[in-house]
Amino acid sequence: MSVLITGGAGYIGSHMVWELIEAGQEVVVVDNLSTGFRWAVADKAHFVQGDAGDMELLANTISTYNVDAIIHFAGSIVVPESIEDPLGYYLNNTIKSRALIAAAVKGGVKHFIFSSTAAVYGMPDTNPVHEDAPLNPISPYGSSKMMTEIMLTDTSFAHNLNFVALRYFNVAGADAKGRTGQSTPHATHLIKVTSQAALGDRDKLLVFGTDYDTPDGTCIRDYIHVSDLVSAHLRALEHLRGNGENKILNCGYGNGYSVLEVVEAVKKAVGVDFTVELTDRRAGDPAALIAGADRIRKELGWQPQLDDLNTIVQHAYEWEKHLIENGLKV
Ligand SMILES: NC(=O)c1ccc[n+]([C@@H]2O[C@H](COP(=O)([O-])OP(=O)(O)OC[C@H]3O[C@@H](n4cnc5c(N)ncnc54)[C@H](O)[C@@H]3O)[C@@H](O)[C@H]2O)c1
Repeated sequence: MSVLITGGAGYIGSHMVWELIEAGQEVVVVDNLSTGFRWAVADKAHFVQGDAGDMELLANTISTYNVDAIIHFAGSIVVPESIEDPLGYYLNNTIKSRALIAAAVKGGVKHFIFSSTAAVYGMPDTNPVHEDAPLNPISPYGSSKMMTEIMLTDTSFAHNLNFVALRYFNVAGADAKGRTGQSTPHATHLIKVTSQAALGDRDKLLVFGTDYDTPDGTCIRDYIHVSDLVSAHLRALEHLRGNGENKILNCGYGNGYSVLEVVEAVKKAVGVDFTVELTDRRAGDPAALIAGADRIRKELGWQPQLDDLNTIVQHAYEWEKHLIENGLKV
């Protein structure tokens, strides 16, 4: 019995591989290395280089490794890019997810965990935003993920497959043991680029919009440590293997921090000052996005351990430093 992880060479997936291996699980990764790295995959995991939409490769992998559960991280993740290339996003995130779900059904895989996103809510009317809020994605990225949630719901009704879809808020930080972190090329995640500014790897940090309806005028987000996020997947896996019912759950802490608060946290954590340039809003950024975070604690017994902005920022900074010092940054 093993767990198939798509996108296991990427940021979140590589943390998941370590978490499962430490829990004594057999793991096989399928990744096409479009944004991931072979070196990011723990040695004890099996690695198959290939596409998450390749049904033949998936069928072989499922039977060779006796896969009973799939955790599906593979996808394209940049919201503005999805607006410029909607069909590319629907192909990689929706159509290939459909192929993967079909391969799961055909191969007798019984459990499926899916990386969804807070982007399915679009611009929510209320914060914190709870799971039963209306879905109103404002980008092809959000729509591509919402469609996969729908496919899973319908497939689960018709076939012997139960699933958990986790709607991640802003994932940040890195493995506390320094084994992996956010290495994705050209990533635009705030804590990562702020760490780069602190390390002198970029000459300034741009803050997009200072006139939002928030206490300091900058956007507020719910930052979740990547290690807490992967532990939620482990809880979800146990739930599904225990024949638990389908669930769609937010994954965040229920706390929000503004862009300027994050910048101050980085400056304080690393004791370095850097240039911050305040500039205009970007299209499509909600003022605030904070998870209604109770349901996952109640229903999966998830207990986050790293709900602390300073810890998140410190771990992200250490990883960024490691990438730069070892010539691994691309
Ligand atoms: N990082 C965040 O803040 C965040 C927030 C919400 C949701 N998510 C979701 O989490 C998942 C993982 O995100 P991440 O931040 O680790 O991104 P990432 O880019 O670091 O990882 C994605 C991995 O998937 C692989 N991949 C992409 N398309 C593939 C395909 N067709 N076949 C095989 N492999 C493929 C890439 O090579 C990479 O290793 C994504 O589905 C993303 O939408 C991430």
